[in-house]
Amino acid sequence: MTGRLGVFDSGFGGLTVLADLMAAMPQTDFLYLGDNARYPYGTRGFDTVLEFTTEAVDYLFRRGCPVVLLACNTASAKALRTIQQQFLPARWPDRRVLGVVRPSVEALAELPPGAIPGVTVPGNATGNVAILATPGTVASRSFVMELEKLAPGINVVQQACPMWVPLVENGELDGPGCRYFVRKYLEPVLNGPLEISRMLLACTHYPLLLDRISEITPPDVQILTQGKIVAERMVDWLTRHPDFAARLSSGGGSWFLTTDDTARFNELATMFMTTPVVSEHVHLPRLC
Ligand code: DGL
Repeated sequence: MTGRLGVFDSGFGGLTVLADLMAAMPQTDFLYLGDNARYPYGTRGFDTVLEFTTEAVDYLFRRGCPVVLLACNTASAKALRTIQQQFLPARWPDRRVLGVVRPSVEALAELPPGAIPGVTVPGNATGNVAILATPGTVASRSFVMELEKLAPGINVVQQACPMWVPLVENGELDGPGCRYFVRKYLEPVLNGPLEISRMLLACTHYPLLLDRISEITPPDVQILTQGKIVAERMVDWLTRHPDFAARLSSGGGSWFLTTDDTARFNELATMFMTTPVVSEHVHLPRLC
């Protein structure tokens, strides 16, 4: 039996990854789940993010997804490892969950996709990189620790941007209020002691603010988003795991689930995806 490739985020942010997945894998069917009713994840504690993410993954598995991508850095940083090491073996041993932190770090380290089956030849990348992320991702230090392993030549600064997710979830992508908060978090990075050459938008919501971020970022600072990186590495993963590739249904369709109001989801998701989105409301059962 085949199923759709599950894509999960706390809200709308994962759509920025889904768009690139759809472009890279046009034959694949996708099932997107946004936990809009319980966003933001980025300001919540470890246990809460783990609980919410596990419920979402379990739900997508029950809807038949053989593989789920956590298109959310906060969930990837705080929940992925426990889900892979404890939840899957206990409850869903024949399914897989992947995240977005590791592929992004591989790209920052300038390692080609698939170069590291398990362990690690460090990349040669050097320079000063800024990681812009939610407070939860920053506190987890996941990017810092992975970069230390894969790219020891890179210096990292982290910047938490707590207001950016609420701006995106409310469709506030322009105007003086939005510009104020974009500047508020970027200025310390751009005017800090380290001269930054690359900046990773390490929250999947942030590409929706890319125009505002680009406005005040000097042109010699490269801004990296995760969609294409993650899509490229998902294609590579499926090539190396043909048993899972064969379990994905093909037809090139995308379906959308939200834990909040569907009319609002449809309106904003249609704006972000630029094609009409019709969603289904779902309730994620508590797991004991
Ligand atoms: N989009 C999510 C991420 O990549 C987090 C958004 C939130 O705070 O809920 O981290």
